[in-house]
Amino acid sequence: MVRFDTPAQNITSLSADCLAIGLFDEDALSGSAKAVDTATRGLLRKLKASGDLPLRPGDTQLLLDPAGLKAKRLLVVGLGKRKDFAQRGWRKAVSAALGGSLKMRAAHLALAIDQPESDAVGDYYLGRAVADLTGSALYRINDFKTARKPPRPALRRVSLAGLSAAAQTAARRGLVQGDAIAAGQSLLRDLGNLPGNVCTPRYLAQQARELARSHRNLKVRIFDEAQIRRLKMGSLLSVSRGSAEPPRFIAMEHRGGARNAAPVVLVGKGVTFDTGGISLKDPAAMDEMKYDMCGAGSVLACMLVASLLKLRINLVGLVAAVENMPGSRATKPGDIVTSRAGKTIEILNTDAEGRLILCDALDYARRYEPAAVIDIATLTGACVVALGHHFTGIMGNDTDLAQELVAAGTRASDRGWQLPLTEDYAEDLRSNFADLANVGGRYGGAITAGAFLGRFTQGMKWAHLDIAGTAWLSGAQKGGTGRPVPLLADFLLQRAGVNKA
Ligand code: BES
Ligand code: MN
Ligand code: ZN
Repeated sequence: MVRFDTPAQNITSLSADCLAIGLFDEDALSGSAKAVDTATRGLLRKLKASGDLPLRPGDTQLLLDPAGLKAKRLLVVGLGKRKDFAQRGWRKAVSAALGGSLKMRAAHLALAIDQPESDAVGDYYLGRAVADLTGSALYRINDFKTARKPPRPALRRVSLAGLSAAAQTAARRGLVQGDAIAAGQSLLRDLGNLPGNVCTPRYLAQQARELARSHRNLKVRIFDEAQIRRLKMGSLLSVSRGSAEPPRFIAMEHRGGARNAAPVVLVGKGVTFDTGGISLKDPAAMDEMKYDMCGAGSVLACMLVASLLKLRINLVGLVAAVENMPGSRATKPGDIVTSRAGKTIEILNTDAEGRLILCDALDYARRYEPAAVIDIATLTGACVVALGHHFTGIMGNDTDLAQELVAAGTRASDRGWQLPLTEDYAEDLRSNFADLANVGGRYGGAITAGAFLGRFTQGMKWAHLDIAGTAWLSGAQKGGTGRPVPLLADFLLQRAGVNKA
């Protein structure tokens, strides 16, 4: 565990294993670089003149035992041109400082990297981002490698140095919140990274139970297959029919708000493995379908964040957990099922299973008369085609709610983009045999999936986050990202009014 603080001392008199400062690619020294240069009798100016300092953003140079500084090491991080330096560059520089201090096994890092002027993050967000980035830097995949594990990271303390008294108070609030958000992200990443043979619907239910056991302000209720049948979730059950793994429906509650205040309800897609079912997927990268429960993981993570921060808000987390497999009992293309809402669905493609479990969970959300209901799902490959890996797809039936989520994502550096969910798209879902089909045409697949969900959320303020492109990375850096926990946590913090002055 890392401890965070905001010491009042001058950065030059701070005793740390490593002091990290930023350096702009320009002639004059400024900010923390100037203070360090003065205390070291022009060390930086000399190094700069000899061409030994990093200038490109994110590059670093380590100096040992700099005379005039209390810190044992000085890590100079390049910030690039001042006019191009913004939030993104600042985050990159902080990550570089964290990466550098992990490599040198510093126990105490003091951070004094200047904030961007143009695109100021503010002192509160400064604290939040540092805690959040520290969590990411320290995260290790819960792997199954049997060779000896690398040593635990040495980092124990991170100080935000050189802040004014007012800035310290705001930054400390940010650090506390960022730390909780990092815990949520790390839970989500762990759950996502686990293989499908470990992280099953029953495993997710167990984790939810565990969360409620260790956090007294959380309540949990788990529904087994028979109970799910009693809830009339015929659409959800049609997805798990082909699997030997029984489904679970999870309902969690955090009652931090006024007794009769309408809750925010989060609904997560928890397909613990998505083979596609009878509409079997192509083998390429099918292993990544173990991440198809990241919506569910996000919901558990948000419950954790709300509980850690004792948010004064009523929050409900619903998770539909199933495994999508082919088998002799599996649902076949053309099969017609009856959803909890009573609508009949013609399942034309068993690989469009996320919407089939979400529609029943969203209908269940009605009983809470929610202030807002937000579903989170790795729902469509089409969303990845549309937005790539940078933006979460956001849509719904209430523009204010969708824009509230977009704004939360921007503040949290976990961005989303609203897609146009108009009634045009619902027309693609016509079926000759049932109330609606589970797939539309070839184009606009992220939005037709949203339109399908929209048929089950009338009368509620609803938004849908398609995180198919943002929840994990492929290739050499394959792994969960912890997104969209920062976005959702920011939304919840705003709703709870935590940061109102
Ligand atoms: N879990 C997938 C979506 C997905 C695909 C996420 C690739 C991340 C990467 C979802 O269940 C799915 O299979 N969707 C289909 C829908 C189609 C059959 C209408 C898709 O996107 O191909
Ligand atoms: Mn699928
Ligand atoms: Zn899926």
